[in-house]
Amino acid sequence: MKITVVGSGYVGLVTGACFADLGNDVFCVDNDKAKIASLKKGIMPIFEPGLEEMVLRNYKAGRLKFTTDIKTAAKKSTVIFIAVGTPPKPSGEPDLSSIEAVTRQVASVLDSSYKIIVEKSTVPVETGEWVKYTLSINSKKKANFDVASNPEFLREGSAINDFMHPDRIVLGVESRSAKETLLALFEPFKAPVIVTDIKSAELIKHASNSFLAAKISFINAIANICDKTGADVTKVAEGMGMDKRIGKSFLNAGAGWGGFCFPKDMLAFIHISEKLGYDFKFLKEAYNINEEQKKIVIEKIRSSLWNFHGKTVAVLGLAFKPNTDDIRLAVSLDIIDMLLKEGAKIKVYDPKAMKKAKEALDSSVVLCKDAYDAAKGSDCLLVLTEWPEFTELDFGKLKKLLRLPIVMDARNMYDPAVLKKLGFKYTGIGRR
Ligand SMILES: NC(=O)c1ccc[n+]([C@@H]2O[C@H](COP(=O)([O-])OP(=O)(O)OC[C@H]3O[C@@H](n4cnc5c(N)ncnc54)[C@H](O)[C@@H]3O)[C@@H](O)[C@H]2O)c1
Repeated sequence: MKITVVGSGYVGLVTGACFADLGNDVFCVDNDKAKIASLKKGIMPIFEPGLEEMVLRNYKAGRLKFTTDIKTAAKKSTVIFIAVGTPPKPSGEPDLSSIEAVTRQVASVLDSSYKIIVEKSTVPVETGEWVKYTLSINSKKKANFDVASNPEFLREGSAINDFMHPDRIVLGVESRSAKETLLALFEPFKAPVIVTDIKSAELIKHASNSFLAAKISFINAIANICDKTGADVTKVAEGMGMDKRIGKSFLNAGAGWGGFCFPKDMLAFIHISEKLGYDFKFLKEAYNINEEQKKIVIEKIRSSLWNFHGKTVAVLGLAFKPNTDDIRLAVSLDIIDMLLKEGAKIKVYDPKAMKKAKEALDSSVVLCKDAYDAAKGSDCLLVLTEWPEFTELDFGKLKKLLRLPIVMDARNMYDPAVLKKLGFKYTGIGRR
């Protein structure tokens, strides 16, 4: 099938590469000229395991093309996915201006040859109506098109595998042609498919992400009770998770959730609910718990360091999760900001996110070449991302490098007993 994917970021590039790998002819479009130029040279704009190899293979085979020319690409395609960003505005409302810009450009090439314009970006319920309206008023009378919704559930760090082996594929459609065409396109995935209306499909995505984020907020709230009582949240989570109705995933207490999806999607869901006349208090509280959790990490460090002024905190992990270089809306950014405001000096290390960190962090933050470099002369080691390589750290060496043997394990990665035996003052989340 001939496909265009507009937006060549984490979702768009993975979508384009995977569809090409399944034998489709794919145009990956982006309005970032530098991004398209480097993709044509085989340079990936993001780190995602397995992506570079898949992109290069399909680019060489001619199934994957990169362009800034959305109109030519759309004209040649039957299915056009919109996978551009939907970042949050200060009010929490998602900025859908890129979705509208793309929709208007696609509208200008619509004619009698049938096309499906598919929302893949995460958008609030009823966006499909706006997309349809925008396409109608900006296209010729004989324009033959359908709008559909196909929300994406991939996780950064395992995006290729998630895309190729999804738990489910959600298709929001309004016509038989759209249903049949999209079912044929997704048939090779051999995954369960839910076919529904566009609004329900849009809601499935917001509801799923908000539910997952709220599940983490829930266990973080439990962790706070554990801190007050001496119970161990990892055991509480294990005991809860063995119940099949609850499940063990997303029950890891920590410094809270961040990244480009959970915070913005929950805020967007709260916002659209309010606009529709429903005060989604449950989500508001889950969001507040997450904001509080970052402050709790600061207070835990304070209880070991007393004053921050003149102290250096070595931060290990900046990416919002392991196996990605993405630091957008990462918890690390907020916590570093709070520590700087308290007067602390910051040294940081992340296995993949250092380039992006350099662009995003305050110029006073010292970028280090590894965990040991960060620890050297620091007063506290603060672990914010559970990178596998951090489980292999030589704590004997770290103890010699740190000025004070203090570990704030904000992802509960380490065995408290082991670190205490080595002479560290260990603090975790919801366990001692
Ligand atoms: N990142 C994830 O893990 C994830 C998972 C599921 C869903 N989503 C959703 O998918 C959407 C995209 O997310 P992302 O992480 O891939 O974002 P991204 O920022 O990595 O990529 C978006 C791309 O769109 C391009 N773009 C913006 N406006 C454009 C325009 N008018 N024309 C052409 N290109 C344009 C940008 O240059 C950028 O390369 C968002 O709605 C997000 O919520 C993201």
